[in-house]
Order: sequence, then structure tokens, then C-alpha cells
Amino acid sequence: MELPFAESWKIKMVEPIRKSTREEREQWMKESFYNVFQLRSDQVYIDLITDSGTGAMSDRQWAAMMLGDESYAGASSFFNLKNTITRLTGFEYVIPTHQGRAAENVLFSYLVHEGDIVPGNSHFDTTKGHIEGRKAIALDCTIDEAKNTQLEIPFKGNVDCRKLEKALKDFGDKIPFIIVTITNNTAGGQPVSMANLMEVRELADKYKKPVLFDSARFAENAYFIKTREIGYADKTIKEITHEMFSLADGMTMSAKKDGIVNMGGFIATRLQDWYDGAKGYCVQYEGYLTYGGMNGRDMNALAVGLDENTEFDVLQTRIHQVEYLAQKLDEYGIPYQRPAGGHAIFVDASKVLTHVPKEEFPAQTLTIELFLEAGIRGCEIGYILADRDPVTRENRFGGLDLLRLAIPRRVYTDNHMNVVAAALKNVFDRRESITRGVKIAWEAPLMRHFTVKLEKL
Ligand code: F0G
Repeated sequence: MELPFAESWKIKMVEPIRKSTREEREQWMKESFYNVFQLRSDQVYIDLITDSGTGAMSDRQWAAMMLGDESYAGASSFFNLKNTITRLTGFEYVIPTHQGRAAENVLFSYLVHEGDIVPGNSHFDTTKGHIEGRKAIALDCTIDEAKNTQLEIPFKGNVDCRKLEKALKDFGDKIPFIIVTITNNTAGGQPVSMANLMEVRELADKYKKPVLFDSARFAENAYFIKTREIGYADKTIKEITHEMFSLADGMTMSAKKDGIVNMGGFIATRLQDWYDGAKGYCVQYEGYLTYGGMNGRDMNALAVGLDENTEFDVLQTRIHQVEYLAQKLDEYGIPYQRPAGGHAIFVDASKVLTHVPKEEFPAQTLTIELFLEAGIRGCEIGYILADRDPVTRENRFGGLDLLRLAIPRRVYTDNHMNVVAAALKNVFDRRESITRGVKIAWEAPLMRHFTVKLEKL
């Protein structure tokens, strides 16, 4: 008999979690203004709000922390990190920052100016925030197929190169760089193919523009290239990683995802001009150049995390669990962005809560219902997250309205996934009775979803 699949690790330390009653959860949701970001973590049974900073470090990472060098300047931990990044990516210059958005802030302070246009596949919300906050435009050139959640194609995160070329033609001198997010979080954790990255590079060279990768989940992207793209099956994840980054001029990284650390990020580049330009902003916003926003011990743990998470077995275990949850949802007929993404399942709320009008935020309503059902915390990646148009101030209803179930790395077992799927099925079974959603009582002008206060209708 063929042996079944099992995790590529065993568990050395555990953390208790606790169930609650429906009554308690009703009360907590109300006190949190129907915004799951306002819940306390001990009110949550299974926490799928994000895969960012929520992973479990390995014994090797914890061991590396003990050897952290906390010297202000020239710490050995910095060189451990820098050497690992250079080995994996080929980028010579490295600036540590406290997380991904800080890397964006430092680099974009140098690169993005009022009136600029930054084209790419779907920009993550902090990326968009750092562009729009500088009175520039984040131009989404993702392939149209990404909007059809039921269409199954292998690289749904790709850049539409016709849209990109049009942008390069129309706005040439206003474009400081092209950004490609790997994997494409907003489109459902969907990967970008090597062929697409090559095409972007060709266009960039033709129009003489640099290319930046938002690399938060680059290792998951490499896994999908290995398992889905012709010609890559026999290459290692490290070889694929190197090839991907050979097509970019630099990267911003939220190390909280594929670095498997709880906090951290960096900028890496081959362009001395970017490095010199960003350096001063690092010192101003983050810290001296050999620590940026990070402790020595955390840089050490990150160096190990990057090395470990660019090994096939680790990624296979990870993606297998996401696919396992997807199979359960298939069994129950619950629609989600197909195929399953690298870090999360994105339930298509507009196809579940068909009676809730878009003005009442179906995905947010589904997020609330899932918490009330079983204490499971997902996260809306939909109309609330999309913010308002910076010019018209209208809600942006043009994109997808999804409930994201992001799976932390090496934290939950497949039994937890069974609970998540069953809870979602229970909500799905009573979907016809859910006819009203929520309305906004208060919101921040930018990145409103973290702090928005909602009223149940
Ligand atoms: N880029 C992408 C693609 C991301 O998914 C994130 C964060 C960032 C940049 C910003 O990094 O959080 O370290 O400052 N995504 C998290 C999420 C928050 O839940 O998807 P950060």
C-alpha cells in the first residue's frame, strides 16, 4: 500500500487554545464593532486572520536566536542574514527593516513621487497605501482571469503584459518601476509563472524600467513553478528562487511570511542607485544600516528561516495543508478562488451570501458569521479592504469580495482544518437566511479595514 502524506516535521512545543460559547462570541463581536481585528486573541479558537508573523519557528531558528549579535553596528547577525539573502537571490545590497511595509516605506521614499504611476499585478494594501499616500497611482495590471474565481488556471497571479505594455507606452516617464507581487496575495495567493516574470523583464528592458518584486511569499511561488510549470520539475526550490530573482532588480520582503519569523523584513537589490537612495531613509525611519528595524537574534532566525523554507519538503507540507482544506470545501460545494492559493483559501462571499447587497459588505458579513459559528477568525479581503477611490471617495466595488482563511505555517493540524471546513459548511447551509450585512459607522481615510467600526443591519 502507498504510504499516505505526512508533515515533514514533528512538534516540540504546544500552546493551548480554547473554545467559547455562541453567547460569548455574540458579545465579543458586538464589543469589537463587528471588526475581527478588534477581537482579543484569547477570544479566538482557530486564528486564520493572517499567515503573517504567525508561523512556528523551528528548533534551528530558536537555536540561532541564542547566537544573535546585538552590536549596534556591524553585527555578525546582519552578515548572516545578508549572506543568506545574497546566496538565495543574487542581490548584493541588503537593508533590514522591521517588516514588509517598512521596506516599502524606505524604498518608496526614494523611488515614488507625486504623479507617478506604479504598474504591476495586484498591489497589496500597504503597497498601495505607500504609493497612494505619496499621491501616486498603483495601476493594477493583473490578468482578467483572476477575477473569475471558478476558473482553474495554474498561474492566476500573472501580470497581463498587454495592459502593462499599454501603461509603459502611455505613461512612460511617470513610471519609476514595475512591481510584481509573488505570490499575488490579493488575487488569492495565486502564483506568477517564470514565463510571465520573463515577459515582464523583457518589457521592462524594452522601456528601460527597473523591476521590483514584492516577495512576501516568493518560496511558495517557487514551489508552484516547480510543480506546475513545464521545465521546472527537476530544479530545486533554491535554483528556481535564484532564477526568479535574476529577473528583478530588487525586492521588498515581509519576512513574516516565507521567512517564517514573527517580525522582520528587508530590501535587497542589485542596483547601487536604489541602495544609496534608500540608505538614508533606513537610518531616518528604521535604524542603522546593519540592523534596520531588527534585533540581531531575529536576523539570525530569519537567515535560518529563509534557508529552511526554500527546501521542497517544507513547502510541500505547507501547500498540502492548504489543498487539504480546499478539498473539504469542494466536498461541501463551497465556492472559493480556484485553484487553492499558497497561503490561504479565499471563499467567494458574493457566491455564498447572494442575498446580501454589495453595499452591505458580503465578505465581511461572512467573516462575522464564521466567527459566531465556531470562534474561527478569518479576514475580509474585499470591499472594506479595497478602501475608497482616492479621487471620487466612492467605495471600490470593482474587485473580488472574499473571506480569506490564511493558514499559519507549521501551527495547526489537519484536524483544525476539518473544524474550519465544518463550521463554514454550517454557515453555508443556512446562507439563504442571511439577508442583511453591515454598515460603516466610522472609518479611517486610508487602510480602514484594521480600525473600521461596523453596525449590524
Ligand atoms: N506585501 C504583501 C504581498 C503582503 O501580503 C504583506 C502583508 C505586505 C507586503 C506587508 O508586509 O505586514 O510585514 O508589513 N500581508 C499581511 C497579510 C499583513 O495578512 O496578508 P508587513
